[in-house]
Amino acid sequence: MNVLIIGGTHFLGLNLTRRLAARGDRVTVANRGQTPAQLPESVRRLKVDISAESALAKAVEGMTFDAAVHMIAMSASTASVVLEPLAGKIGHYVQCGSVGVYAPLAYVPADENHPTHPRDVGPDSQYVGFSHKLAADSEAQRLCAEYDIPLTILRPTAIIGAGAVPIDLWGARNPKCFQRIIDGEVLSVPNDGRALIHFGHVGDLADAFVLALDQPEKADTYNITSEYAITLNYYVELLAEAVGRKAQVEYVPMEELLARHQGGDKLNEKGLRFLCEHMCFTIAKVKQALGYSPQITPEQAIADSLRWMFDQGLITSA
Ligand SMILES: NC(=O)c1ccc[n+]([C@@H]2O[C@H](COP(=O)([O-])OP(=O)(O)OC[C@H]3O[C@@H](n4cnc5c(N)ncnc54)[C@H](OP(=O)(O)O)[C@@H]3O)[C@@H](O)[C@H]2O)c1
Repeated sequence: MNVLIIGGTHFLGLNLTRRLAARGDRVTVANRGQTPAQLPESVRRLKVDISAESALAKAVEGMTFDAAVHMIAMSASTASVVLEPLAGKIGHYVQCGSVGVYAPLAYVPADENHPTHPRDVGPDSQYVGFSHKLAADSEAQRLCAEYDIPLTILRPTAIIGAGAVPIDLWGARNPKCFQRIIDGEVLSVPNDGRALIHFGHVGDLADAFVLALDQPEKADTYNITSEYAITLNYYVELLAEAVGRKAQVEYVPMEELLARHQGGDKLNEKGLRFLCEHMCFTIAKVKQALGYSPQITPEQAIADSLRWMFDQGLITSA
């Protein structure tokens, strides 16, 4: 298969690039060339900033692809700047979405039929969350219908595993939060630590993209993740266990954490608000339709992330 990947040199995109190249697919990645990446030799690289006018159109002039994967569709315009120049050049379009578009959830586990608009009732109606990702999905749906291109949208949950720092207990991606556990320091956990977080391992999620690419006739929207969600308390427990510590925690209401640390570099407000929402999804649809079968449990995925952070020197033994 001849595949164009927009992004493709970091984390999920990189895992996909490597998987496709390893099985002999013709892979072309398009990115700015800023993120350092070790790519297989067979991978063709296009240096493109998708936000620069006509840049992608020029870069793919005279080329066609069986499929294109847009890993970084973060808004309506970042979807259209990729789809418009690819019209007539691709047989299938796959976009990376996010399950954040369903938040706040009305029921768990949530499926693909879960509404994507904020609830009408109470504080939920104020939640703006992932409206940018929803706009990207809507734009892809509009343009793929117009150009008659089969569209697959894959919506991962929180991604974890070697390659990037996972979301921490304050909604950021700060290695220092994990270091606190190693150093036996007290960690402030939002609310009562019972919010559910649903991690998907980056390797399993990349497998879902391969399955989607192989089955354009099953083009649809799918949520992709691991088999079960875990509580924040269990997340902390697993992190502590993996570094041979007993977690020292205090519980702090989310709003108090925000008041204490807003504006600082340790806390990410949007991430923290998201972390305090229950996130739990069924993957029945993608299993049944595409044959998806995640291999890595959240417990193994968390250990993989920690190993990677140690290897990178982002965290160190006490
Ligand atoms: N992380 C999570 O927990 C999570 C959860 C759910 C969904 N998602 C979704 O997963 C997707 C991928 O996330 P990721 O963390 O794996 O990837 P990422 O780190 O966001 O990937 C960045 C990639 O895009 C390229 N890039 C960035 N800006 C570019 C531009 N203007 N033009 C061309 N290329 C550009 C980068 O290369 P250069 O720097 O060289 O350009 C790199 O290859 C996103 O759609 C995200 O919304 C993530």
